[in-house]
Amino acid sequence: MQSIKQYQELISNHFEELTIRNEPKNLYEPIKYIIGLGGKRLRPVLTLMTTEVFDVDYHKALAAATAIEVFHNFSLIHDDIMDDAPLRRGNETVHEKWGINTGILSGDAMLILAYQYFESYEPKIFQELAKLFSKTAIEVCEGQQYDVDFEERDDVTIPEYLKMIEYKTAVLVGAAMKMGAIVAETSDENKNLIYDFGLNLGIAFQLQDDYLDAFGNPETFGKQVGGDIIENKKTYLYLKALEFSNQSEKEQLLHLFSIQPSDSSDKIISVKDIFNTIGASDATQKAIHDYTFKAFKTLKKMNISEDKKVLLKAFGEKLMSRDV
Ligand code: IPE
Ligand code: IPE
Ligand code: MG
Ligand code: MG
Ligand code: MG
Repeated sequence: MQSIKQYQELISNHFEELTIRNEPKNLYEPIKYIIGLGGKRLRPVLTLMTTEVFDVDYHKALAAATAIEVFHNFSLIHDDIMDDAPLRRGNETVHEKWGINTGILSGDAMLILAYQYFESYEPKIFQELAKLFSKTAIEVCEGQQYDVDFEERDDVTIPEYLKMIEYKTAVLVGAAMKMGAIVAETSDENKNLIYDFGLNLGIAFQLQDDYLDAFGNPETFGKQVGGDIIENKKTYLYLKALEFSNQSEKEQLLHLFSIQPSDSSDKIISVKDIFNTIGASDATQKAIHDYTFKAFKTLKKMNISEDKKVLLKAFGEKLMSRDV
């Protein structure tokens, strides 16, 4: 096994050397652009790490790891169109730079490219990877649709929200790890346990993404701070704020979240103030910890050495302390 930092370096070097076709330029340039902007590369690192957790050389997992990251980047292009987001990884979003039509088609091409990376696996592993990937991708679409539907609703419940983030985000983190387990040809029990670990880590990850969207540092965050508030996203912060509010605070929140997206710096300040004073920020932090520890619990059942568990836990803890 390598250290987390070494896996990150391996993946970042791998993506630097990735060859993507050139023509037509307007199709492939945006693809190279979004991939070149980097990001944390969390999912492919998890795929490589998982393969080695189950005692197989990470090289065997590089194609699956690439597929996951290319799919993730495709989902970001389309997500930024849907969320009307101007900034990604500290730079203009693809649709801001090239237009919505380009964002759609370059995204579509990336989804197909992602599938092609599986072609290097032998039939048995290929089939298992492709099956998991298809299931995951359709769930991501379902989660994304709920996310957008919730913008227009004022009666979203916490269980509905949790299902939505499980689908739009957590299943891909679970799948990234399970793919590592599939490549390593470990037992079905191990595959399912590592999926659960990733799923719970993924829920914690999206809760924190929501938290940072409101409270991240604009200098370093890389996305538009307050974007979820502008778009009336029904995040955990918002739902907990509603739950903790008295009648007049509730009316104020409902009013603020009925404003259609516009230049809304006053709205952002008011909403963040409510999130903090009412206890929604603390409740979100607690939920991030709870889901991370729920993930750690599944490790207890897994038949792998203690040093490997320590590495996986270190990854979860590192995620909790992130600020981008
Ligand atoms: C952003 O994912 C989208 C979510 C699911 C929250 P990341 O935070 O992993 O984005 P990058 O790849 O590091 O930019
Ligand atoms: C994105 O959720 C989930 C997917 C891309 C599928 P968000 O909309 O919260 O992600 P960011 O904050 O834009 O990265
Ligand atoms: Mg978004
Ligand atoms: Mg979104
Ligand atoms: Mg977000």
